[in-house]
Amino acid sequence: MCGIVGYVGDKESAPILVSGLKKLEYRGYDSAGVAVVNRNQLNVVRATGKLRNLENRVVADQPQGNIGIGHTRWATHGRPSDENAHPHTYKNVAVVHNGIIENHLSLKTQLRAKGHVFSSETDTEVFAHLISDELEAGKELPDAVRGAIEQVKGTYALAVVSATDPHRIVCTKNASPMVLGLSEGQNFIASDVPAVLEHTRDIVYMEEGDLAIVTAAKVDIFNRQGHPVNRATRRIDWTPMMAEKGGYKHFMHKEIWEQPRAVADTLRGRMLLTEGDVHFEGWNLTPEKVRSLSKITILACGTSWHSGVAGKHMIETLARLPVEVELASEFRYRDPIVESSHLAIAISQSGETADTLAAFKEAKARGATAMAICNVIGSAMTREAEFSVLTNAGPEIGVASTKAFTTQLVALYLLAVKLGRMRGTLSVAAAQEHLTHLTEIPKMIEEVLKCEPAVKRVAREFMNSQDFLFLGRGPMHPVALEGALKLKEISYIHAEGYAGGEMKHGPIALIDEKMPVVVIAPKKPHVAYEKIIGNIEEVRARGGKVIAVIDEDDDQVAGLADHVIRVPAACALLAPVIATIPLQLLAYHVAEMRGNDVDQPRNLAKSVTVE
Ligand code: F6R
Repeated sequence: MCGIVGYVGDKESAPILVSGLKKLEYRGYDSAGVAVVNRNQLNVVRATGKLRNLENRVVADQPQGNIGIGHTRWATHGRPSDENAHPHTYKNVAVVHNGIIENHLSLKTQLRAKGHVFSSETDTEVFAHLISDELEAGKELPDAVRGAIEQVKGTYALAVVSATDPHRIVCTKNASPMVLGLSEGQNFIASDVPAVLEHTRDIVYMEEGDLAIVTAAKVDIFNRQGHPVNRATRRIDWTPMMAEKGGYKHFMHKEIWEQPRAVADTLRGRMLLTEGDVHFEGWNLTPEKVRSLSKITILACGTSWHSGVAGKHMIETLARLPVEVELASEFRYRDPIVESSHLAIAISQSGETADTLAAFKEAKARGATAMAICNVIGSAMTREAEFSVLTNAGPEIGVASTKAFTTQLVALYLLAVKLGRMRGTLSVAAAQEHLTHLTEIPKMIEEVLKCEPAVKRVAREFMNSQDFLFLGRGPMHPVALEGALKLKEISYIHAEGYAGGEMKHGPIALIDEKMPVVVIAPKKPHVAYEKIIGNIEEVRARGGKVIAVIDEDDDQVAGLADHVIRVPAACALLAPVIATIPLQLLAYHVAEMRGNDVDQPRNLAKSVTVE
């Protein structure tokens, strides 16, 4: 998501920091900043918007000093602004941070009680305050950082400098990446390799819980227990472009593989397992309001619309509230019936899609309560919303949506549980069970990604097909739609997604021995499984080739299909998260084998800000 860079050596640090941040621009950001230490003085420069804004300020009044840290921010807590941009400082301490501090609200309350005043809306600023207190208690900087992280629950890649300790950077990580770049007489830290490649190719990957003390002359690393450790130095031969993609050939492939982490970030800090409830920061719907809702209208386009269709299954099942999923481009030009008892939910990765935004404004103007499920805080959609659930997937660069979709599904499931609890349709025990299912999802995604070799074999066999059909029933219907959309947009093969029950009403006429039919057939829900087996028989009877996405232990469909892709069995409503991933991989590999520009398919834009 965000980017970190740090430098200590004999050169002026500010230009090195800004140029390192530029190498991380591809990750997306909304503001940036640097903190430079010079003879016990801390100089901080920050700017909202493009890096050029920061660069202009740095050039106009360059902070002098041979040690510093820099950051590009992708907002998660607090809107994009100069005050919320990193580095965050308190007294002599400056910090930059990637990740999320889950208990920042309680820590802020404790710190305020001790007289601390906060100057930003971020969770990160808590680190600066905690470290400063630890220093004032007489600790050295590394111990002060350790003391602070002991109080924090959450994820972090954290880098710290202090005006009272002006020759070293202390950095540490937990579940967010951090690397050290080694060089003669100077050393670097970064969240990602591209930031330092121009200066060194000797990289140390920090491990979970590691803390590093970085000076111009050397780097000392300690593990979580505080013992000195040696971590291997690797020589990185990637080109800068390869480095941006983390060694993957395309951003889309990287983003598919990032999904365990992305989904974990969507869930982080939101599941209250003991209470059987869900916590959304800033949630402002009262129990009376939620109980008085008569309908939810989901407004979205493309992939986000597909997640809305899956969300309908989730919300109607768990919260027993009617949900309509509207194509935003249609809704905005109708005369829709909207009442004050309706909740309008805009779903959007970018938060800028013109049709979704217009439909959302229309629903709001007609009296609906407006909520957004969005990946970009500060985007038009979140500004329009009365309340937003952020998906926290991190920047999605490949034009074809992948991790945005699965994180939307998970956010919708959290929302369904929350609404179910508030409306009394879910008991504490039932909610706990649903939340437990959710906790298993990141691991299951790691498992399902192992199907890639099987998917590649299927891709090779069918890469020259003219058409594809995707079939799914119940919660798998939107997965079929999404599988078809993914394939068509990057491989340029014509593909249709259908609800299995619709096959007899038309698409069956297309089936012959040249037609691959991807059938998504998990065993749950049983009624959908039984019926989709009927569809498979119908395809086989007409010579169509069946590619079945099935549960690991399914022998019945395996005996009927030409090809099977086995996936771990999830509960019925969450199975779309798992079943979508082989379809993303199928689209990716077919497109790649056909030599297409996977990340920038023809005629498509990442953010459709025009009608
Ligand atoms: C498909 C895709 C598009 C978007 C659609 C909505 O892979 O990326 O269909 O889903 O343009 O975009 P957002 O979610 O940004 O509103």
